[in-house]
Amino acid sequence: MTNAELIAALPKAELHLHIEGTLEPEMLFDLGERNRVELPYPDVEAVRRAYVFEDLQSFLDIYYAGCRVLLTEQDFYDLTMAYLRRAAEDHVVHSEIFFDPQTHTERGVPYETVLGGITAALADGERDLGVSSRLILCFLRDLSAESAMETLDTALQNGGITAVGLDSAEVGHPPEKFLAVFDRARAEGLRTVAHAGEEGPPEYMWQALDRLHVDRIDHGVRCTEDEQLVARLIEEQVPLTVCPLSNVKLRVFDSLEQHNLAEMLRRGVRVTINSDDPAYFGAYVGENYAACADGLSLTAVELMELARNSIRASYLEASTQQTHLEQIDALGQQANL
Ligand code: ADE
Ligand code: ZN
Repeated sequence: MTNAELIAALPKAELHLHIEGTLEPEMLFDLGERNRVELPYPDVEAVRRAYVFEDLQSFLDIYYAGCRVLLTEQDFYDLTMAYLRRAAEDHVVHSEIFFDPQTHTERGVPYETVLGGITAALADGERDLGVSSRLILCFLRDLSAESAMETLDTALQNGGITAVGLDSAEVGHPPEKFLAVFDRARAEGLRTVAHAGEEGPPEYMWQALDRLHVDRIDHGVRCTEDEQLVARLIEEQVPLTVCPLSNVKLRVFDSLEQHNLAEMLRRGVRVTINSDDPAYFGAYVGENYAACADGLSLTAVELMELARNSIRASYLEASTQQTHLEQIDALGQQANL
């Protein structure tokens, strides 16, 4: 079995995926037309040419501008369903999906519209495509803690989410800014994750762990600047949801060959591979696995370990995790690994 065949056959969980980041240029145009929202691009090719980024902020500016075409429940349904279809092609069996409600409520789109469209698609995706899912609400960390708390209030009234997280511009917005919000979320029975150590320093990862008590860290690639932090991650088997091609596109690493994913994996950090914003970075999760297999010379055994990590780091109940892990083991036996 080639690595490409193995990657295609492995059951995978995707744990770091912004639904707004799955808005493909074609859908951007279709929704722009449907909702009469003018776009600053003449055609789809011009959009793709514009997707060249210097850093996280230069990406976020374009990503938030794209969100302006998302207005109705049907829009959020269509966006989510298109992602689930694409994920199923990559043999993603489970997806834990971020959404950024403040990006929409600030434009006057009700929270219920966003949640309703996404959750309807998630139910249909599980029934029709066999992709199970969980929903994670991300607070925009460059907005105030008060705004996050108001968003949490609304979310608690509506239900339907498993966890809360933190995303958007990292530097200057440390996790501890959201201490009270995360305390409240945990007290209400929600799980917690946070983007940290993407562009921000290892200190933000310590804060995410010690102050926000997160279950997983999203990105976390700057951990290798701090030996004590790496030791902690290994000791506690804290999952990192790494997005290798995102990191290259946003210039966290100069090239994939310089990415530290393989180093972390080989040292025993529980790393997983994910796509982040696939429409903007031009690669879904299978393509991230394939690029790492090539660029970082991952072995078949390491590819299986990454898939296992994704299942183990998910919020799936233990018995369902076990079923997926047994399928991975069976595949390994079939491939004599
Ligand atoms: N929002 C969407 N993608 C993001 C990323 N990679 N980092 C922070 N915020 C984001
Ligand atoms: Zn992200």
